[in-house]
Amino acid sequence: MSTTEPLTGRRWTEADIGRTELRPTYRADLRRTSRDVFADAPHLDFSRLSWKDVGRPYRVENWSRERLAWEAEHGEQLPVPRAWAMFNRSFQSLFDEDPVASRVAALRRAGLKLSTLDVRAAYAAIGEVVRSSVWNQAHRVGDTVWDPRAKRSLFAGLDLVRPRVLFLGAADGYEAMLLSAMYPGGEAVLVDYDEYCVEGRFGAFPVEYPFLGVDPATGHEKVWYRDQMNISYVVSDIRDLDFGPEFDVVVSIGLVEHFPDEYKPLAFDWHRRFLRPGGYAVLTTPRVAARTKAFYLLFGDLMNFSYRELQNVAQLGLYAHENGFEVLRHGVIKSHNGIVCRSR
Ligand SMILES: C[S@@+](CC[C@H](N)C(=O)[O-])C[C@H]1O[C@@H](n2cnc3c(N)ncnc32)[C@H](O)[C@@H]1O
Repeated sequence: MSTTEPLTGRRWTEADIGRTELRPTYRADLRRTSRDVFADAPHLDFSRLSWKDVGRPYRVENWSRERLAWEAEHGEQLPVPRAWAMFNRSFQSLFDEDPVASRVAALRRAGLKLSTLDVRAAYAAIGEVVRSSVWNQAHRVGDTVWDPRAKRSLFAGLDLVRPRVLFLGAADGYEAMLLSAMYPGGEAVLVDYDEYCVEGRFGAFPVEYPFLGVDPATGHEKVWYRDQMNISYVVSDIRDLDFGPEFDVVVSIGLVEHFPDEYKPLAFDWHRRFLRPGGYAVLTTPRVAARTKAFYLLFGDLMNFSYRELQNVAQLGLYAHENGFEVLRHGVIKSHNGIVCRSR
């Protein structure tokens, strides 16, 4: 069901549950989730799978011009933390812009440049038109990045009461907010070593964005906002964290695929080290598909600063299994694979 009257200017309430609306930069979505939004993949016995069965992940290697320019200037490979600093600023610029207004402006620019026979600039402007259109469809209309309904399905049904959630490589912290609404009353600790994320990404996340969750007092559905949640942000390299095994959930969204295979054990160990016994590790990685390959090709300048794999869900599950996890649930959300696991 979609909206009939616009809600702009006021906060959503419980009366709006079941509705969705396009805002200038994102979709607000309070439609209830059904299990089939998260597509459980067919049963896989990861203990019997081998890399011969599932193949190796696909590597994205069309690097951004900013990375190539930095490396040409410095004569060395772009350091990974610096690559993330570039990524976060450039990815956030997409969330900050109104893609429909950007498309109109780029179309005008293309027309002007063509009228003065500046073909190069006209071509660049047409590239902007295409990018704004694709981002509008991918994020604002299709909601394939935040993807709240499928992620709610992925996170549903966990045995959690007032959980402590640790989000590794949190960037804008979106999934911690989704979890906080679904399992309220606990706390979420966001960790990212790029200081910009605190204000530039988490801080820039719309305060009026509604999260569908529950009211712990009544057990009824409730609309939550980020300013009602208990969230702290730690700027640190994950390797330097001195937490013990104290979290009920450790989550990462698009992190482990940035580690080549020799570093995968380290990346998975991060998900285990801070988990209390019986706690859940929840991981997602981008799916390998014609659509995602095309996206990273088109958005290479804005996205591709460091090593990146596109995986299928069997590959993600096999990495988790090989690195000491029992995969409790695996499946696909709109543009990512998702798994819920426990330390074996
Ligand atoms: C691909 S992003 C996660 C995707 C995220 N959901 C988004 O919207 O951009 C990975 C994040 O992990 C952070 N990161 C990578 N390695 C890290 C490390 N060793 N310690 C802390 N943060 C790290 C990066 O700064 C980046 O913000």
